[in-house]
Amino acid sequence: MAPLFSGKKKCSIFTNLFFLLSFFFSVAYGNNNNDININNNVKKPTLFIFGDSTVDVGTNNFLKTTAKANILYNGIDFPYSIPTGRFSNGYNTADQIARQFGYMESPPPFLVLTKRPYSFKRKILGGANFASAGSGILRETGRKQWGEVKFLEKQVQQFKYAREKISEKLGEEKACRFVSNSLFLISVGSNDLFDFARNYTSIHNPQQYLAALQLTYFQHIKSLYGLGARKFGILSIAPIGCCPALTSQNKGDCVKPLNDLAIAFYSATNSLLQNLSSQLLGFKYSLGNTFLMTKTLLDTPLNFGLKETKSACCGIGYLNGQGPCNKTAGANVCYDRNNNLFWDWFHPTEKASELAAKTLVHGNSTQFVSPINFSQLAKA
Ligand SMILES: *[C@@H]1O[C@H](CO)[C@@H](O)[C@H](O)[C@H]1NC(C)=O
Ligand SMILES: *[C@@H]1O[C@H](CO)[C@@H](O)[C@H](O)[C@H]1NC(C)=O
Ligand SMILES: *[C@@H]1O[C@H](CO)[C@@H](O)[C@H](O)[C@H]1NC(C)=O
Ligand SMILES: *[C@@H]1O[C@H](CO)[C@@H](O)[C@H](O)[C@H]1NC(C)=O
Ligand SMILES: *[C@@H]1O[C@H](CO)[C@@H](O)[C@H](O)[C@H]1NC(C)=O
Repeated sequence: MAPLFSGKKKCSIFTNLFFLLSFFFSVAYGNNNNDININNNVKKPTLFIFGDSTVDVGTNNFLKTTAKANILYNGIDFPYSIPTGRFSNGYNTADQIARQFGYMESPPPFLVLTKRPYSFKRKILGGANFASAGSGILRETGRKQWGEVKFLEKQVQQFKYAREKISEKLGEEKACRFVSNSLFLISVGSNDLFDFARNYTSIHNPQQYLAALQLTYFQHIKSLYGLGARKFGILSIAPIGCCPALTSQNKGDCVKPLNDLAIAFYSATNSLLQNLSSQLLGFKYSLGNTFLMTKTLLDTPLNFGLKETKSACCGIGYLNGQGPCNKTAGANVCYDRNNNLFWDWFHPTEKASELAAKTLVHGNSTQFVSPINFSQLAKA
């Protein structure tokens, strides 16, 4: 991959200097929290979001891909019932996490911000979302199935561009501090596993494939670190073998090999992050066990106010799992969306995303989020 700006040394020196200076100033003049957003006594971290359709809020609207959600019934519960590109009836997981931090929704897609160059440097300080539906950790992922999607490396390159603009706007020292205080959320990997299950990958051995995923993931997280990122909120892979797209082809049952891969991915990511935090000074992370969170909803839905965990709310055919949520193509849509775990053949409802976000941000169980939760990460 292209060499990335390695501002590591420069950044940490300036950061320390800056902390020292701002410490003296806050002692001398009292800290007026000029550049810190306070909302209900919760500090709102700036969010930069990466990954796939679980957190895409409209990136793919601009791409030549069939993985698009800017069509009804998507967005049916979004303000004004507009389809925005989110694969959800309303707010998706990116939005729900942002909402737990006091925002209304996810920061906008990077590709929306770049449409208006004159305001870019100002707007990027509010965060950005780089996630692209259908994409994965590997370059090739999603391409055969969905066409043009922005894979993780591309998203990191886009952040590199954003990072340069942030420096131009704030100056290097302040930019370092700004980026190191921001929260980097990443939700990726499902599409890599789907492509593996479709036999679209060049590697056919699951262990080798997982190792390739982790190695590439490692490089991209390290690149973000090199650009000054310090706080990483990572979501692992849900039991994707239980999504209606898969169960509808398996007599209604979950596809176990795919779930086993998702479990193995979690363990590997856990060691990867432990490894990174021992290697990289100041690296902080929080890993969400999306598998276990979703499994808990599947096993004990009533505890969470869910009644339907098999069938998608919106879709076509058996379990609404045999085609996308596309009104024009004749998709069904359910009435009580808050009863359902699955919105469409691959994605959770707004309600399920909210349950996950609450656990990630405020949860006190290290089973679900560890070693700290996202709100502790933001404060760290
Ligand atoms: C996947 O494809 C490769 C060739 O590209 C083939 O050798 C292998 O048997 C296929 N595996 C399955 C499970 O279809
Ligand atoms: C963890 O770090 C060590 C060096 O500190 C390295 O040898 C090892 O390959 C790393 N493991 C992973 C999974 O990246
Ligand atoms: C939705 O379905 C219509 C009619 O089949 C089709 O023309 C359109 O391309 C579909 N849209 C998406 C995003 O799949
Ligand atoms: C997680 O976050 C909340 C704040 O939202 C905090 O009160 C709680 O102690 C945290 N959980 C753990 C395990 O520390
Ligand atoms: C976590 O919080 C819940 C309430 O939100 C409480 O019932 C439970 O005892 C807490 N668990 C731990 C380990 O602190």
